Amino acid sequence: MELREVLKSRRSIRQYTGEQVPEDTIREILSYAPWVPNHHVSEPWRFVVAQGDSLAALADLRHQAVLRRRAGEESAQARADKARQEFLEASAVIAVIQRLDEDGTRRHEDHAAVAMATYNIILAAWDAGVGAFWNTGPLMQDADVRTWLELREDEQPVAFLRLGYPKAVPVQRRSPIEDRVDWRR
Ligand SMILES: Cc1cc2nc3c(=O)[nH]c(=O)nc-3n(C[C@H](O)[C@H](O)[C@H](O)COP(=O)(O)O)c2cc1C
Repeated sequence: MELREVLKSRRSIRQYTGEQVPEDTIREILSYAPWVPNHHVSEPWRFVVAQGDSLAALADLRHQAVLRRRAGEESAQARADKARQEFLEASAVIAVIQRLDEDGTRRHEDHAAVAMATYNIILAAWDAGVGAFWNTGPLMQDADVRTWLELREDEQPVAFLRLGYPKAVPVQRRSPIEDRVDWRR
């Protein structure tokens, strides 16, 4: 696909066909992650790819994390069940993890780089016919998830990326960019 087409056609994909994305394809998609602007070339990322039984375990952790976050709410169980099911329907989930620099400015810049690395994965996936969905939510701070990911004190998840072949591609709209550009000539 042409780059411009990739940029405008990509959508966040929630529904998947159930077909497994081959491991080689995931490896190839991941290989684009580091090729982003990155001050000091600090490469402040690492990735955990959950598939199969590991994905089921992560889905259970997400279920529990939502239950804890929503404790006392009437909709807690339904939300938790939906959260688990969303992960189970993906072919893989990639946890994108940022190493947190002690320096606040560097940490901020690194976060931008990790977000771009995540976007590179999403774009490379889309170009390979694979849909992705960037999830955050209760998993981000959950102690059990931190343990499962074997996060060090100086690490923080930035994204949980669901991957799978698209079953449906949602329609989205954006405002015309000219509404938000102030040309100074
Ligand atoms: C940092 C970040 C976090 C996100 N977290 C969630 C999330 O937890 N749940 C969700 O439904 N969508 C999440 N999204 C996806 C957005 O909802 C989605 O990108 C938006 O609706 C625009 O749709 P599009 O990506 O198809 O253009 C997240 C996106 C970003 C960049």
